Amino acid sequence: MAQASSGPGTLPSEEELAQAGLRLVVNGPVARITISRPEKRNAMTGRTWTTLARIGQNLHKEVRIVVITGEGDIFSAGIDLKMFTPEGVDGERSIVTGLVDGSTDDAELDTYITELQEGFLWLRRPDLVTIAAVRGHAIGAGFQLALSCDLRILADDAKFSMKEPALGLIPDLTGTKPLVDIVGVHRATEICLTTRQVEADEARELGLATLVVGADELDGAVDDAVAALLEIDPEAAAATKALLWQAPDNTLEEQAAAERVAQTGRLNALAKTMRPGS
Ligand code: CAA
Repeated sequence: MAQASSGPGTLPSEEELAQAGLRLVVNGPVARITISRPEKRNAMTGRTWTTLARIGQNLHKEVRIVVITGEGDIFSAGIDLKMFTPEGVDGERSIVTGLVDGSTDDAELDTYITELQEGFLWLRRPDLVTIAAVRGHAIGAGFQLALSCDLRILADDAKFSMKEPALGLIPDLTGTKPLVDIVGVHRATEICLTTRQVEADEARELGLATLVVGADELDGAVDDAVAALLEIDPEAAAATKALLWQAPDNTLEEQAAAERVAQTGRLNALAKTMRPGS
């Protein structure tokens, strides 16, 4: 059941989710989002990403784990290529029309892309652990969505590819930083500029896959990961994720200091539970 208005705000309605090509099921601490346009190989539109952003903004604070997957045998064919045609996707603005006729300026385009990126950025929040469960292709924006998650659990038929340069574009949906962080700038350059497929076994070798399992084991592997993650105290989990995310930009001394601050918070919280009468 999708949540109604019990969270910080109102989650998208079933109708809004369907228009965005999404399904959402929230069960206590676990939210499961499915990209659901199988007839278009789960291609995503601007509305998919603004709706994803609304989900992130309005999830109940009880939610700790978010699982994203695709309907059927594919994660996502990436952006709906109709977005780049003058007619665009039904009910949504075309990306190109305003640029061709000069009515969209660069500042407006920047604002528009910022709105789309919000659909990806919230998946890094420290109070959540996010899991991409990937079968088949994850192309372009689909690859970037998987890269936005903390864990990527892949079926052995999963294939990542960054197709944007083949369309004369760049990957702009927040995927370039995690890609470089995981595989390094040289391998990231090769993956993006050849636009080749990275299959599951190679993804595991490169660190892009947390785990690779047989296709019929994917759901079970995700359930096992969710169960393990739920064993951890939510505040310890959030503090640990926040700490780990600082590490790449910190010196050793800065990171050691951050560990002291975080652990002081944790020890004080634990001590509070041990005080008489607590
Ligand atoms: N956008 C819109 N429709 C798409 C689509 C996409 N990205 N991908 C597939 N579809 C549609 C097809 O047009 C087709 O529709 P019809 O039945 O109405 O003709 C239907 O889905 C089935 O497609 P295929 O017959 O091609 O299915 P397949 O199983 O043989 O191949 C596929 C699947 C490998 C994903 C192939 O469809 C494909 O390569 N799709 C295009 C992928 C792509 O280039 N995506 C854009 C990447 S760039 C990006 O995402 C970000 C950015 O900002 C640019």
